[in-house]
Amino acid sequence: ILKSIILIGGPSKGTRFRPLSLDMPKPLFPIAGFPVIQYHIEACSKVENVVEILIIGSYPASDLSQFIQEMTSTYNIIVRYLQEFTPLGTAGGLYHFRDQIRSGGPTYFFIMNGDVCADFALQEIVEYHKEKQALLTVMATEATRQQSLNYGCMVLDKNGEVAHYVEKPSTFVSTLINCGIYLASLDIFQTMTDVFYAGQNQENFMQFNGNGKDPAHISLEQDILTRLAGTGRLFALPVLKWWSQVKTAGSAIHANRHYLALFKAKNPNHLASAVSGPCQIIGDVYIHPSATVHSTTVLGPNVSIGPNVVIAAGVRIRESIILANAHIQAHSIILHSVVGKSSYVGEWARIEGTPCDPSADKPFVKMENLPLFNANGKLNPSITILGTSVRLAAEKIVLNSIVLPHKELTRNFKNEIIL
Ligand code: GDD
Ligand code: GTP
Repeated sequence: ILKSIILIGGPSKGTRFRPLSLDMPKPLFPIAGFPVIQYHIEACSKVENVVEILIIGSYPASDLSQFIQEMTSTYNIIVRYLQEFTPLGTAGGLYHFRDQIRSGGPTYFFIMNGDVCADFALQEIVEYHKEKQALLTVMATEATRQQSLNYGCMVLDKNGEVAHYVEKPSTFVSTLINCGIYLASLDIFQTMTDVFYAGQNQENFMQFNGNGKDPAHISLEQDILTRLAGTGRLFALPVLKWWSQVKTAGSAIHANRHYLALFKAKNPNHLASAVSGPCQIIGDVYIHPSATVHSTTVLGPNVSIGPNVVIAAGVRIRESIILANAHIQAHSIILHSVVGKSSYVGEWARIEGTPCDPSADKPFVKMENLPLFNANGKLNPSITILGTSVRLAAEKIVLNSIVLPHKELTRNFKNEIIL
């Protein structure tokens, strides 16, 4: 049998995703209508012999309980949440909960970073892992030289074995990067035990230096992958399918487009029909069944409309995500933006952001997760985000701005963070 582990971090992570993660854990943010990690769960449920999915993180269990129940019944698979008492790093939680992972005797288990989006090639990884008799197999993809520095970089030998692994190198190592999706054999726990005890010994004097991390903190990348490189037991499978991280709100709009495109290929029933949809539909659009959309509205391409959203006459929305219970009044326009839960957009208002997608003519370029501010202290133009319960008055314009929750906007804003 197989199991899957999804690493989701905790409330102290994902700060670049604010304000969207202020009242909802980032792993549950809906992209193309479904929570980020639901795509992981769906992909796992399609792999032969996966019997259990364990989600490891440090969010309060109550944040995830409803989601877990929904997943269990939707995919008819056991889904459980294991809560870390403090962030233990990407492998510390795996080690801490090793008995739960080993119980039932799985031969292999997937480890999936919860903050990646992809057309997951999980069955291919299983076949490859078996063929290589690997201890750990890493799904890999190609990046540009410059962007590779933000990821784990690998050099492979002819056999697909990882000869060198460097996490976020400061100078160029390789354009082959770690996608944060792995398949491990159970013996990986032996490697973790070695690392754990080495760490405990070091802890005696670390306490005086105080690196601020829990003594049980283990990094999968720094402590395990780096150590296994060159031993003949770490393999990488380069994959050409779409893959992207979800770090910033801008990357959510990017992933939205790709997941919608995947629906077209694999789940066309998730997409609003251009023929029999509630309004004029252009390209790929997701509309939650409980949303109310006026027939004179024009949606698309690449729009997701959440539950109980109400969209009035003559509205135009393109390249955007509208979250649950938002009200979009007549003749307003929304471009490259995320509209928060229960927000209100007045008549003839305009909400516009700047797309930050990777250039389509550079084959391996990834989404750039730019910091909020550039070197001159100016806000980097990005998608516009309205936080939860924001009210935008009629006929006002919000351009390239980030609006924190519960703001009442009665004038125009451009390139501002509205606190
Ligand atoms: N449970 C738990 N506990 N999860 C964690 C913790 C922790 O203490 N720390 C991080 N995570 C989760 C995050 O939520 C995320 O899903 C994943 O582990 C990796 O997060 P980061 O540690 O922020 O690493 P990264 O995303 O910058 O880089 C990793 O992913 C890249 C691909 O997306 C590395 O594995 C890179 O090598 C890789 O290229
Ligand atoms: P995760 O991305 O989930 O790890 O959460 P985070 O971004 O909130 O945590 P981190 O401590 O990595 O980031 C704190 C701040 O540093 C972010 O708001 C960014 O502005 C900046 N930052 C961190 N890592 C990067 C990076 O790789 N690239 C850029 N451009 N900025 C970064």
